[in-house]
Amino acid sequence: MANAPSDDFLHAEQAAQFILERVSVRPRVGLVLGSGLGAVATGLTDAVRIPYEEIPYFPKSTAEGHAGVLVLGTLDSIPLAVMQGRAHLYEGYSPSQIVLPVRALGRMGVRTLVLTNAAGGISPEYSRGALVVLRDHINLQGANPLIGLNDERLGLRHPDMTDAYNAQFRQFVREESERLGGGIFEGVYAAVTGPNFETPAEIHFLRAIGADLVGMSTVSEVIAARHMGTEVLAVSCVTNMAAGITGEKITEEEVLETGERLASKFLALLRAVLPKIEGYLKSRATSD
Ligand code: HPA
Repeated sequence: MANAPSDDFLHAEQAAQFILERVSVRPRVGLVLGSGLGAVATGLTDAVRIPYEEIPYFPKSTAEGHAGVLVLGTLDSIPLAVMQGRAHLYEGYSPSQIVLPVRALGRMGVRTLVLTNAAGGISPEYSRGALVVLRDHINLQGANPLIGLNDERLGLRHPDMTDAYNAQFRQFVREESERLGGGIFEGVYAAVTGPNFETPAEIHFLRAIGADLVGMSTVSEVIAARHMGTEVLAVSCVTNMAAGITGEKITEEEVLETGERLASKFLALLRAVLPKIEGYLKSRATSD
């Protein structure tokens, strides 16, 4: 067995303590920024930046467009923990290494995780530059961070995934996008390992099984978060249409450039949605 059941919990706890000793903010919301979206963190006030390599057990991100810095600060007075970049399976990390930061945030007191990613659009309704709030996912990575002996301190052996993507948060996003005049889609995200983009035949298959988007991240983090009882909101940026949909080839440059272009739109949406999420968390805390 690669990991004794207690290692993941202990490592997350040590990472959390390391972070808490360095900052005074106590965020209840965590944000993971995907490819090209790192600039969203520059909107934070009184920011403390901690490179992942300084934090015990945090995986270093080797992917283009992923700075590998944890930023703690406030956005419009709301305390936030923002991960500029994440680790992926295709970099050679194990699922439990990938979710270590999510577990560390959970141990720090984060109750809601907002995950973002770059994704290829499969649904014909989408086009490059669209934002899509995730309604559900299909895990095709052949990997899962919960494999191995279960640690009850983290969560249940068989966590339910029926409401993995909080319906109330999705509604907040729909309402606020409409108010901002941006428009947003809802869709099902298929997770693959990459690192190559898919073949047209694979995209044909993904469409047939009900996927609207495809990407190489996010689902392990969602699984680990739900295992801990953390609420999840996930938003994809359609950085390109998936292979075979338009017939055009997909490039890394296109993915990063579209992500960067969408960062300000995404920041505006986040600023509108975060107060509603904070309100929701407060009302839940008082009714518990
Ligand atoms: N496929 C998988 N992952 C991606 C894509 C894609 O087309 N675009 C951005 N991330």
